[in-house]
Amino acid sequence: MYSTLQRLNHITSLATTYVMILLGLISIASYLRIPSVDVGKVEVKDLIIQKGRLRRWGARQEELASLKFDVRTDLNPLLNSYNTKQLLIYLTASYEEQTTGNIHDVVIWDRIIQRAEIRDIRAVGNKLPKSKVGRKGRGNVRVEEVKNKYQWRNPSGTFKDVEYANMTLHYSLMPYVGILSSGIAAVAQDPVIIPELIKR
Ligand SMILES: *[C@@H]1O[C@H](CO)[C@@H](O)[C@H](O)[C@H]1NC(C)=O
Repeated sequence: MYSTLQRLNHITSLATTYVMILLGLISIASYLRIPSVDVGKVEVKDLIIQKGRLRRWGARQEELASLKFDVRTDLNPLLNSYNTKQLLIYLTASYEEQTTGNIHDVVIWDRIIQRAEIRDIRAVGNKLPKSKVGRKGRGNVRVEEVKNKYQWRNPSGTFKDVEYANMTLHYSLMPYVGILSSGIAAVAQDPVIIPELIKR
């Protein structure tokens, strides 16, 4: 004789098993089909090196790089997947110090795009080109004249022995179930030349 409670327990554990199997299948399916994107363009403007201080107490004067950049890329293939929970996009500068040969990767801007977000990503730029607001096209990243969000400093305090930097926009896709995947969303055509320090 089954009591109601036992029966309920049985049904619940069955349901849990089915859900686990389903999640497993979704995870495998999206693992096999990691969406690919066409690599877009990053354009760096107004890169300058100035003396300044980080915004923290007791920070010493050092050389800081600041810049503006444009990005054009289409991330719709990533957002169209039913298993995409959110997308992180971030811009890095990678560069090598001539004297030491040390390679640095610095994140200078980032943004999280939620699946539920209906407005498209143009809203981060200063200029808002006219666009059809809707689900379609929301993965078209068009940012213009955006400033670096994080301070770009070199651990040595100077950019003297840095000739150029490679600018890359990366993405990291967080699925509802399954593994995190990442890739390159856009790159700058040429390495960006690090200019002379502006003396004041
Ligand atoms: C920058 O990009 C060039 C060309 O793709 C590559 O040869 C070089 O190793 C890169 N430098 C760094 C520091 O990533």
